[in-house]
Amino acid sequence: MPIVVQGLSFSYSKGTPFEKKALDNVSLTINDGEFVGIMGHTGSGKSTFIQHLNGLIKVQEGSVEVNGIRLTNAKRPKPDYKKLRATLGMVFQYPEYQLFDDTVIKDVSFGPKNMGYKKEEAEAMAREALRLVGLDPDEVGAKAPFELSGGQKRRVAIAGVIVMKPKILVLDEPTAGLDPYGKEQILNLILRLKKECSPTVIVISHDMDEITRYANRLIIFGDGKVAFDVPMTELFKHGSELEELGLETPSAVRMANALKARGVDLGEGIVNMDTFTAAVLEKLRQKGEKVEDFNGIDWFGEKNKENAPLSDGVFGEGV
Ligand SMILES: Nc1ncnc2c1ncn2[C@@H]1O[C@H](COP(=O)(O)OP(=O)(O)O)[C@@H](O)[C@H]1O
Ligand SMILES: [Mg+2]
Repeated sequence: MPIVVQGLSFSYSKGTPFEKKALDNVSLTINDGEFVGIMGHTGSGKSTFIQHLNGLIKVQEGSVEVNGIRLTNAKRPKPDYKKLRATLGMVFQYPEYQLFDDTVIKDVSFGPKNMGYKKEEAEAMAREALRLVGLDPDEVGAKAPFELSGGQKRRVAIAGVIVMKPKILVLDEPTAGLDPYGKEQILNLILRLKKECSPTVIVISHDMDEITRYANRLIIFGDGKVAFDVPMTELFKHGSELEELGLETPSAVRMANALKARGVDLGEGIVNMDTFTAAVLEKLRQKGEKVEDFNGIDWFGEKNKENAPLSDGVFGEGV
């Protein structure tokens, strides 16, 4: 079932001299199976918006419905928050700061224990979640979170969210603070989770090239409102609007425009390096060049490695 947000407005410190409007009449629907990227300047309301989706921020005005669970400012009926949080998993910014237990396995099994699962069941779920994020439970389960690398900690934190197999996964800047290789690994992990665990994914990001590689739809917040909401395949038509919003045009779109200005028209639908490369290869093929089939860019030479890219436990530091 979709996420339906209607007329959602929110102010911090409402009714005080410090009142600050953070969301202003936001309405949108996110359907099952979408991969939505959310962008916008710092302070545009992105985090406030997603924190409404799992009930962390209480609705003041308007409504939010997640998989049939309705959130409004009415006192009754009280929404089933446990069910909501098992349905929609939320990975906050720098989630590794929220690891608290003395071992990884205890930390990851906290959610299911809290939901009433017995210790053994909860730990079995935690082991599965660790495997799903590319960690070996036998290797890291008994360790203290502080013994792990920055990227590993982040994966443990994500395991603690997906352990309940939420249908919807929401991540607030999941690659912040990681080096390019660490980012690549987290993005691949998110794609894997979308396939194997949480069919609907919503990601907040600052990186246009990152978002255009993965998401099918881009929503841009500006000043607490939805300033822009398009399917990724339409993005190339909206360069000037992106500029007005102070956001860069994706690199692939800029390169395609530069080629077009020089008489090489790669056609429509270019949003990222994969679609750009595929269009260039198609152009060469049309010219009679022999060109190999293309199935995506292998940024770090991972595709031919055994079990790559998630099983090696190597991550960029710097978190
Ligand atoms: N806890 C808070 N108290 C008061 N104002 C806040 C709080 N959190 C966010 N704000 C304000 O609400 C607006 C939206 O913030 P936020 O949702 O965090 O934006 P974003 O995630 O897009 O950076 C900003 O003006 C911000 O300063
Ligand atoms: Mg934020």
